[in-house]
Amino acid sequence: MTTSESTDRKTLLLTGASRGIGHATVKRFSSEGWRVITCSRQPFPENCPWEAGPEDHIQVDLSDPNNTRAAIDVIRSRLGNGRLEGLVNNAGISPKGPDGERLNTITTELKSWAQVFHVNFFATVMLARGLREELTAAKGAIVNVTSIAGSRVHPFAGAAYATSKAALASLTREMAFDYGPLGVRVNAIAPGEIETAILSEGSKKLANDIPLRRLGTPDEVARAIYYLCTPESSYVSGSELHINGGQHC
Ligand SMILES: NC(=O)c1ccc[n+]([C@@H]2O[C@H](COP(=O)([O-])OP(=O)(O)OC[C@H]3O[C@@H](n4cnc5c(N)ncnc54)[C@H](OP(=O)(O)O)[C@@H]3O)[C@@H](O)[C@H]2O)c1
Repeated sequence: MTTSESTDRKTLLLTGASRGIGHATVKRFSSEGWRVITCSRQPFPENCPWEAGPEDHIQVDLSDPNNTRAAIDVIRSRLGNGRLEGLVNNAGISPKGPDGERLNTITTELKSWAQVFHVNFFATVMLARGLREELTAAKGAIVNVTSIAGSRVHPFAGAAYATSKAALASLTREMAFDYGPLGVRVNAIAPGEIETAILSEGSKKLANDIPLRRLGTPDEVARAIYYLCTPESSYVSGSELHINGGQHC
């Protein structure tokens, strides 16, 4: 039996795993012995190896509901043992204007609003529903990645992004209510300014206003995600954990 076919190994499905917080999350769970099935638009990145990576990577465009539906069928067939211990909805997009400027409620095109909501919000609804049986069988955990921008006007994150993350925080409470009786916990993590490609140049200057006086690292976020997927957090559900170095104003 290969490692990825093993029935006693816990499995995580992680969206947006090719870089940043997602990449750190793959490394965290893999190092704890989990099998990690990853999803993103790009093929498996050869420069980012982890055990059984290429066989467990699914190329999907989460902005396309048909493509997402097809990917769910592939994921279910690849699970093998019908159990999914963790689902982390991490893929997220934050479009900017042609010169990198913030897009607000007046300047964001409807098409762009829709694309952001499909990736940042509707894909989460679809994946959780599509994998409900497997999550229930494993008494698994769902973690939705929201943002500091979901609860305040942010200088760089756009309006579509911010409202999609606010909706995702609200969805987390709704899902915790619906999935709780199935034995599935649902939580969110809301990162502040984390050093990844999604950050604008100006975000780095925000460090001076953060109580801990530095940006966060992807690994610090990955550790919080791991906590929410393990029995260490067995009575935590419907929560949004803020990972922002104390940046609450
Ligand atoms: N970095 C921060 O400071 C920060 C702060 C607050 C919240 N967050 C949230 O944390 C999450 C990860 O952020 P990050 O900074 O690590 O972002 P990132 O480096 O830009 O990575 C985004 C990931 O999402 C995937 N993705 C984008 N569009 C997709 C699509 N249509 N279908 C499938 N996958 C798609 C990307 O892979 P492909 O390009 O291969 O598709 C990539 O793996 C996001 O939800 C973000 O909103 C980040």
